[in-house]
Amino acid sequence: MANKAKFQAIRGTRDLLPPETALWNRVEQTAHAVFATYGYGEIRPPILEQKELFSRSIGAETDVVAKEMYIFGDPRLTRLERLRGTVKAEGATFWPSDVNSVDLFSMAVGKFVTALDELLNAEESESYDREQFVRRSVDLNQELAKFAQLASQGLPSEFQPQLTKSKERVETILGFFELGESLALRPEATASVCRAYIEHNMQQLPQPVKLYYMGPMFRRERPQKGRYRQFYQIGAEILGGPDAPAIDAELIEMLMTFFAKLGLEGATLDINSIGHAADNCRRGYVAKLREELIKVKDKLGADSQRRIETNPLRVLDSKLEHEQAIIATLPRIADHLCDECKAHYAAVKHDLDLRGVAYHENWRLVRGLDYYMRTTFEITARGLGSQNAVCGGGRYDGLVELLGGPPTKGIGFAIGEDRLILSLQESGKGAAPQGRDVYIAWMGEKTYATAIRAAKSLRDAGFSVELPPVEQKFGKALERASKLGARHALILGENEVASGEWTLKTLGDGSQQKLAEQALLEYLQKL
Ligand code: HAM
Repeated sequence: MANKAKFQAIRGTRDLLPPETALWNRVEQTAHAVFATYGYGEIRPPILEQKELFSRSIGAETDVVAKEMYIFGDPRLTRLERLRGTVKAEGATFWPSDVNSVDLFSMAVGKFVTALDELLNAEESESYDREQFVRRSVDLNQELAKFAQLASQGLPSEFQPQLTKSKERVETILGFFELGESLALRPEATASVCRAYIEHNMQQLPQPVKLYYMGPMFRRERPQKGRYRQFYQIGAEILGGPDAPAIDAELIEMLMTFFAKLGLEGATLDINSIGHAADNCRRGYVAKLREELIKVKDKLGADSQRRIETNPLRVLDSKLEHEQAIIATLPRIADHLCDECKAHYAAVKHDLDLRGVAYHENWRLVRGLDYYMRTTFEITARGLGSQNAVCGGGRYDGLVELLGGPPTKGIGFAIGEDRLILSLQESGKGAAPQGRDVYIAWMGEKTYATAIRAAKSLRDAGFSVELPPVEQKFGKALERASKLGARHALILGENEVASGEWTLKTLGDGSQQKLAEQALLEYLQKL
């Protein structure tokens, strides 16, 4: 019997279905429209990137990189890793006086070398350092030749120590190949956009470059309402040009305009400045914060205790009830910003005032990714429970440089589209069921050709039309029309086709009228 195991979407992922997808489309179309009015162009980076891109930009110690990233190996490297394992196993039982053992070892290395050659000949090196691999391959082949030369001497005892040495050198060289997991599903897209900026020399375009994106991101978090392992972001980034506070303010204004256009209720903007990485600014503050935290360490939970060492700023994020009173007494970054960062922050707030954008200052807003500096912000919305951040963003001058590009200013945000949709639905802004404009009830074989033509011309005019594939009795047709939420039924019997006067029934009130083809189209268009 065939295996009838049922498949389900993987935990933390889900199918987006109609009618809900209509709301997703409305949200995305609104983003395209609003962002275009601010001069942004769309970028569609790949979902798959080098793991290193994220660990370097987001930070190796952050939760996103250390715990939540979906990483995997290039299958060709995984194969090499397996072959290296065989060499290791043969090496463990290697005996220089035993022909069989020497053969097995050199055969295992031979297989590795063949697979390595295949890899290098394929010329694709997105998942490994090709130059380094080529150099090591030369070393390996040389050493393997030496080994074979020694082994061909018939294994006399005076050559055995040399043979063992050579075997060990082969193992050492093999050990140098980095064959681990090098690819990742993107957990966010800021790093990808910066990579693309560098890769396509966008610094030669008029600056700043304003880009936006939408698409799936992946983080292995514990799924709950508003938190998924595959989730969707709509984000925007401004790269290059000056770090004028007006840039920060306009980006935020665009965001709030977008939310307003969607009718999102109760969106609250929190802003902060986390300064820059210098002793007279954030570094100094973090040292001070750590000092204070150490004094109250015993009263903190395990997570916060750990963070005193790894990332004291993140303690400010804590939602634990009993830590709140302690956190309220901690030193605040606003009192420790350098003069430039302080002035920048004041100017951003002033510019937001000019634009009529309301905000709350939140000194505890620190964000969970390492690349931020100066302006940070988050937006919360209603109806989301504990996962109430619909958007996060901030400035990240220096990130492009960190990824090997020229010194470049940067700022951006990403909206959690799943959460935005949830919040819109909770406030009754969900999509109405799709329905149909017209259901064509055709009866009698001779009417079928007319029904096809009617469907085509109505669809050309932009109406949604349901044309049943098989003939139905009148009552049955009307029943289905109302089940599908059709607004009208176009009744085509043989009489209608012969006279050219079609019957249009309005399902809402049951009224009926006779109209010629053209008049019918005009009537519907007027509605
Ligand atoms: P983020 O704060 O990690 O920032 O994510 C931004 C938003 O994505 C969050 O506020 C949330 O709405 C949504 N989000 C994050 N994780 C999940 C999840 N597991 N399930 C559902 N929604 C989620 C970034 O990603 C930065 N790249 C934003 C940015 C752009 N900063 C500068 N430019």
